[in-house]
Formats: sequence, C-alpha cells, structure tokens
Amino acid sequence: MHRKNKEIPKKDNLILIGFMGSGKTSLGLRLSYRLQMTVEDTDKRIEAEQGRSISEIFAREGEGAFRQMETELLRRIRDEKTCRIYSLGGGTPVQLQNQPLICRSGIVVYLRIRPESVYERLKGDTRRPLLQCADPLSRIRELIRQRGPAYERCADLIVDVDESNQAQITEQIAQYYLERTGRADPQLLKEAREQKTEEKDENTGDQRTESELPGDPGEGGLRDTGLQLPHPDDCG
Ligand code: S3P
Repeated sequence: MHRKNKEIPKKDNLILIGFMGSGKTSLGLRLSYRLQMTVEDTDKRIEAEQGRSISEIFAREGEGAFRQMETELLRRIRDEKTCRIYSLGGGTPVQLQNQPLICRSGIVVYLRIRPESVYERLKGDTRRPLLQCADPLSRIRELIRQRGPAYERCADLIVDVDESNQAQITEQIAQYYLERTGRADPQLLKEAREQKTEEKDENTGDQRTESELPGDPGEGGLRDTGLQLPHPDDCG
C-alpha cells in the first residue's frame, strides 16, 4: 500500500481507478456496504444515459465519442453535490483533461494489478472492446505500461490487488478513506448502537432483531448501478 499526501482541495467522494479487471466494480460494492455510501459505476451510468452498451458505442460512434462522454460525465460529477463511491472506466484517467477533474472530485484509490492477473480474470470476456484482439495479453501489457503513470498521477492511495483478498483490500481502503475525510466509522457506530440496545433490552426485557435497529440499511438495497443506503448524500 502506497500513500500520497496531496494538498488538492477535494470532495469527500471515494473514487476507484485502475485497469480493466482490477476489481473496481466488486470492490465498489463491498466498500458501499462497509462505508454505508452509495456506489456508482460510470460505465453503467453512460450506458443507461445513452441507452446502449459500451461495445455498441465503440462500434457505432467510435472510441473518441465514448471518451467525450466520459469527460462530460466527470464534469457533472465534479459539480454534483454528492458523497459517493465512484468506480471509473479503466481508460478514464488516461486523458489529460480528465486528471484534474478526477483529483478534485474525491479521494482517489488506484487498484494496481499485474497484466497476467488481468488476462486470467478477463479470459473469454466479450464486453471490453479494447481486448477483442488476437493477442489480448500483449495488448493488456502494453496498455498497462502506457497507462501506469496516469493512474499514479491521479492516485492518493495505490493498492496492489494481486497480493491480498478483497476483504483485506476493502478494509485497507475504508480505513484510509475514513482517516483522510475524518468521518466516523459506520461499523463502530453500528456496534455502539447494538451495545446500547442490548443494554436497554436487558433492562426492559424487550426483544428486537438487528434489522429493526434504527439507521440500519436492511436488505434489498442492491441495484445494478449501486446501492441506495440511508446515508446523507451531501458533502456540503
Ligand atoms: C476501458 C475500460 C472499460 C470501459 C471501456 C474502455 C478502457 O471499463 O470503460 O471498455 O479503456 O480501459 P472497465 O475498466 O470497468 O472494464
């Protein structure tokens, strides 16, 4: 884990960047539960807004048009009053004009991965237009070599995802985010609430289940584009 201290004024969003297959979407969901924050996947938002898949956008309008959509969405994210987790498309930090937009929009975590791991994870995947070629491993190596400096420039924290499991990585990122933003840890708040309720129930004999506790997300909040959780959406 590598930390970088930046003096850039930032919003309290948490932004996950990294190459295709580095786990941005799955870690975004885990972090959403851990930090009780809504998660949004920018690729999915573009697909929903355009009414077609990334592959279709690449095929019909070309990569350039997709890159413009990414930049336009980043501008909106910078201006939105949100406190969310965003997982960005793997190529988003590469364009120079996107880098200040990303850096100012939140705490940026780069999920660094080895080309061989990407290849193993995405073997047989047909949804990433850039990897539909005769020799995907060479393409992955080349793209990671080209993009590494851009990812590193944007990052406040770099996490090597080959070495640890997702639970460990989630906890590392959550702790870093809480430390950087000075926010209260939702897990500790939940434990404190439970402790208080137990003490109260011991006194009154009242039997309440965990899901009845005030402020708990409960079940059924999981949607394709992220989690809707009872967390204030404003960073101020
Ligand atoms: C891309 C990554 C993809 C998607 C598009 C281009 C890239 O997102 O934005 O296919 O240039 O690396 P994921 O990183 O979520 O796969």
